[in-house]
Amino acid sequence: MWSIGSSLKGIIYRKEGKMKPGKKTGELMNVQVTQEFLAAYKYFGMAAYFDSQSLQGFAHWMKVQAKEELSHAMKFYEHLHDRGSTVSLGSIEKQETNFASALAAVQEALAHEQRVTILINAIAEASEQEKDYPSRNFIGWFIAEQVEEESSAYLLIEQVKMVGESKPSLLMLDRKLAKRE
Ligand code: FEO
Repeated sequence: MWSIGSSLKGIIYRKEGKMKPGKKTGELMNVQVTQEFLAAYKYFGMAAYFDSQSLQGFAHWMKVQAKEELSHAMKFYEHLHDRGSTVSLGSIEKQETNFASALAAVQEALAHEQRVTILINAIAEASEQEKDYPSRNFIGWFIAEQVEEESSAYLLIEQVKMVGESKPSLLMLDRKLAKRE
């Protein structure tokens, strides 16, 4: 006959209140809040570069991406808060606003996304090790998001490479990027 597990007996409410994340998972998520703000800062730096080159479409694309990164930071922030953790914010260093070329800037975007993917996967791994199922569920959205983010940065690199030295083609691509919502 089925019987309730001994660990469940007597539970009326969790004394500490909220469902805290695992220790390591919570620490990594706190780091990730700053990392996502850092990502926004990087993209704003790239936007500043493209604006300085009169490539407003590229700059717009980077600004939209920067705002997405701010929303990512706040997703982690809200998740930690909802779980009863106090959010900590790390420092963010100065970011580059000058690149050797459009290609160098978009290559930096992909390199950064690849670094973020490693950090997101580490959170997923920690949440599994700590059996922190709410965090594992939460981080699933970011795992899917990183596939999209790496893919769009890669596409941008390929398109900039296709343009090569052609200024008219660069302006056409710039106009296309201006339409990003
Ligand atoms: Fe929030 Fe582009 O990673």
